[in-house]
Amino acid sequence: MKPVEWLGDRLMIIDQTRLPQHEIYLELADVHQVAEAIRSLKVRGAPAIGVAAAYGIALGAQQIETQDLEDFRKEYKLVSDEIAATRPTARNLFMAVEQMDTAVGRASDVISAREYLVAEAEKIHDAEIDSTLRIAQNGATLIKDGDTILTHCNTGPLATTGSGTALGVIIEAFHQGKKIEVLATETRPLCQGARLTAWELKREHVPFRLITDSMAGHFMKQARVDMVVVGADRIAKNGDTANKIGTYSIAVLAHENGVPFYIAAPSTTFDERIDKGDEIVIEERSPDEVTHLYGKRTAPEGIEVFNPAFDVTPARYITGFITEKGISKP
Ligand code: MRU
Repeated sequence: MKPVEWLGDRLMIIDQTRLPQHEIYLELADVHQVAEAIRSLKVRGAPAIGVAAAYGIALGAQQIETQDLEDFRKEYKLVSDEIAATRPTARNLFMAVEQMDTAVGRASDVISAREYLVAEAEKIHDAEIDSTLRIAQNGATLIKDGDTILTHCNTGPLATTGSGTALGVIIEAFHQGKKIEVLATETRPLCQGARLTAWELKREHVPFRLITDSMAGHFMKQARVDMVVVGADRIAKNGDTANKIGTYSIAVLAHENGVPFYIAAPSTTFDERIDKGDEIVIEERSPDEVTHLYGKRTAPEGIEVFNPAFDVTPARYITGFITEKGISKP
C-alpha cells in the first residue's frame, strides 16, 4: 500500500476519506486537484501532507507553459501559494513549500527548475520514509512486554507515507515480538482513529480495542494504560505541541494518572520560528463535521458549533519527544 506515489506526470493517493469501506486510489492530474485533496483530507496527517504538497508543487510547475525563467517564477509562486493555503497547522506542509521554493531559486533555466522541483519532492518523500523508520525504532525501545498503549487520531503509514510516527512506534514494538495491546481512540469529529488507525492495526494484526474519546480517562484511572503515544502537527520551540483535537485532554488525564505521555514526530514538525504553543494557528473546519457523523446528520439543523481541528498540549505534560534522532525531553 503506497499512500502517496509520484507517477511522473500525476500524483496517485489512496483516498483516506473512503477508508475503511473502500480502498480507492485517485490520480491527481494538476495542482488544483492536489490542493483539494489536502483540504478535504483525502490525503492527511502532517508528514503525508508535506509530501503531497511537495509533489503538488512539482506537478503544478511541470504544467507552467513558458520557457522564460522570470515568467516561470511568477507562475510558480501562484502554484506554491495555492498549496500553502490548503491547511494552516501542520508545520510539514510549510517546510515542504519552503524547501521547494529554495529548489526553484537554484535553477538557472526553466528545464532545470522543473527537474530540481521533482527531485526535491522525491527527496522530501524519501526523508519522511527514512525519519519515520527511525522514529519507530527509537520509540519501540520505550515499550515493554505486556504494555497497553493508548494512541489518538491516525499516525500510521497513511499519515506519513512511511512507517508512521506514534503508530509506527507501536507497530514496530509488536513486530519485535513484544506482547502489547493498543487502545485506539475513535477521534471525533472525523474518526481518523476508528476509520484509519483501526484499519492499519488490523492489517498489521496488532491486538487493539477501539474506544470513544471520552473513555480515555476511565482506562487510565483504572491503571489499564502504561503509556500514551501520539503524533504532532507542529511543535513550538518550548515543546508545546499542536495535535489532533482531544490530545490536550488525554495529556492532562495522563499527567493526573501518572501515565507517561510521548509525542512521536519527525524534525520537519518542529517549528523553530515559534516560541510557544499559543502562536500556533489552529485550523477551524466546517461545522458539518460536528453536526454529522459518517455523512449523516446527528444534530438539529440551524445550530452553531465550534470545530477546531487541533489543540495545543503544553510542554509540561509531555514526558518526551521521539524523533528520528532519538528521544528527548521538552
Ligand atoms: O486533520 P488530520 O487528520 O490531518 O490530523 C492529523 C493529526 O493530528 C495527526 O495526529 C498528526 O498529523 C500526526 S501524523 C503522523
